[in-house]
Amino acid sequence: MTTYQISVIVGSLRKNSFNKRLAHAVIKLAPEHFKFHFVEISDLPLFNQDDDEHQSAAVLRMKREIEKSDGVLFVTPEYNRSIPGVLKNALDHASRPPSNNSWNKKPAGIMGMSPGSMGTSMAQQHLRNILASLNMPTLAQPEAFLVMNDDFFDVDGQPSERTAPFLKIWVEEFVNWVRSFSTKEST
Ligand code: FNR
Repeated sequence: MTTYQISVIVGSLRKNSFNKRLAHAVIKLAPEHFKFHFVEISDLPLFNQDDDEHQSAAVLRMKREIEKSDGVLFVTPEYNRSIPGVLKNALDHASRPPSNNSWNKKPAGIMGMSPGSMGTSMAQQHLRNILASLNMPTLAQPEAFLVMNDDFFDVDGQPSERTAPFLKIWVEEFVNWVRSFSTKEST
């Protein structure tokens, strides 16, 4: 069966991040021939355009990981009504140099979770703007503005009976989205 590689980028560096937990939970709902890889962004330097001609080893590693993937899954919190700086830093790094934008044409999906009632909706809208500029076709629906509350995960850390059905639908849409942009022969 054709396998598809997905880069997962979590916008929180926090050890007990809800969004990291969400990413792990969502991945388990995907078909087996979708392989997920968490891309490390905590070791990237602060972006400085002066470095375009000599990007650091961490940046080059991240760019390679994204380039060999068939799609990108962003799972991010909202910070002050936008995306976290660490995520913007990663997006900017891999977009450079201009002749080698690693995000180019990679199909993307966005989800995010917050204890706040708007469930990262503002951050996701900002992220959509950025991804459009990076030429990433991004799944529009269903939107996943997820509110972290006591019954989101069950005691084993898996999505609860209440939340699993929606996450399954979202994952199905995401994998179909990635497949629809792939030039691989589907078997
Ligand atoms: C937040 N938080 C937050 N939540 C939200 O819904 N909208 C917001 O604008 C913000 N702003 C914000 C700014 C900063 C600097 C921090 C640290 C936090 C709360 C945020 O949703 C909460 O801390 C989540 O737990 C962060 O996600 P992770 O780390 O659990 O994945």
